[in-house]
Amino acid sequence: MVGNISDEEFTQFRDLIYEASGINFTTSNRSILESRLRERLRSSGSDNLSEYYRRIKREPEELKVLLDTVTTNLTRFFRNTAHIQAFEHAILPDLVEHKRRTGGQSLRMWSAGCSTGEEPYTMAMVARELVPSTIKISITASDISLKSLMVGRQGLYPENRVDHVPEKYLKKYFTKKPSGYQINQDIMDMVTFDYHNLKNDSGLRDLDVVFCRNVLIYFDETAQRNAVERFWDTMGRYSYLFIGHSESLFGMNTQFEFYRTDWASVYRKKLV
Ligand SMILES: C[S@@+](CC[C@H](N)C(=O)[O-])C[C@H]1O[C@@H](n2cnc3c(N)ncnc32)[C@H](O)[C@@H]1O
Repeated sequence: MVGNISDEEFTQFRDLIYEASGINFTTSNRSILESRLRERLRSSGSDNLSEYYRRIKREPEELKVLLDTVTTNLTRFFRNTAHIQAFEHAILPDLVEHKRRTGGQSLRMWSAGCSTGEEPYTMAMVARELVPSTIKISITASDISLKSLMVGRQGLYPENRVDHVPEKYLKKYFTKKPSGYQINQDIMDMVTFDYHNLKNDSGLRDLDVVFCRNVLIYFDETAQRNAVERFWDTMGRYSYLFIGHSESLFGMNTQFEFYRTDWASVYRKKLV
């Protein structure tokens, strides 16, 4: 059992986690990091933090497990109704029209920091309803939480997790099983789950839509700016970026512009 965590140990792990992921623990959320470190130490069988720190240095895989432990994976289907409505009533129709004008045959999207999959599956279901079948829809869903990615890949959610799914979608895109609600195969086939750390370039290019909601809040300003610059590289000339409603690019001096819809404001690449 670990006792109090010293200032030195806190700094050591805070720096390690920040360097590895951009996630920024400050003195005001120190207690969260402390309790998650305790949790990991208990299950890893290490005796104390300095031994555990040395172990991480020896075993890079253990760093991944630690990152998984310190992330907050809270999410839900159809999260932030205003965003989903903007996606459904403004962004997707506009992109479909753009594809029609330009002869585009695919719609490529990314849920960056997808947690357990509710966000990319919401994107998939809404797009499936609206986008003509002549356009192929593909969604990359990525996260650094391996546990969350496993849940997403399974696509099976307990009853209380589908609370926010509108009845029409629940009926059409899920199958009731004894252990919960299973996303139907045609929707699962639209989503590819992938381990990806937003510290690095994803290699994705020419995307039409990027959702990165409720992820940047855990980063400091530098890590936020770096992530947003990388989003820019992944996006096509005519494309949209959704970030969380409590997140903003204000003051970041990016090349994105604010795009107001009747439902919510999102960002898009400045049209030149
Ligand atoms: C609060 S959840 C948000 C899930 C979803 N986007 C939503 O809005 O409902 C934040 C997710 O970001 C992931 N995350 C945090 N830092 C990350 C990083 N450096 N790279 C990739 N994912 C990260 C966490 O593992 C977690 O699953």
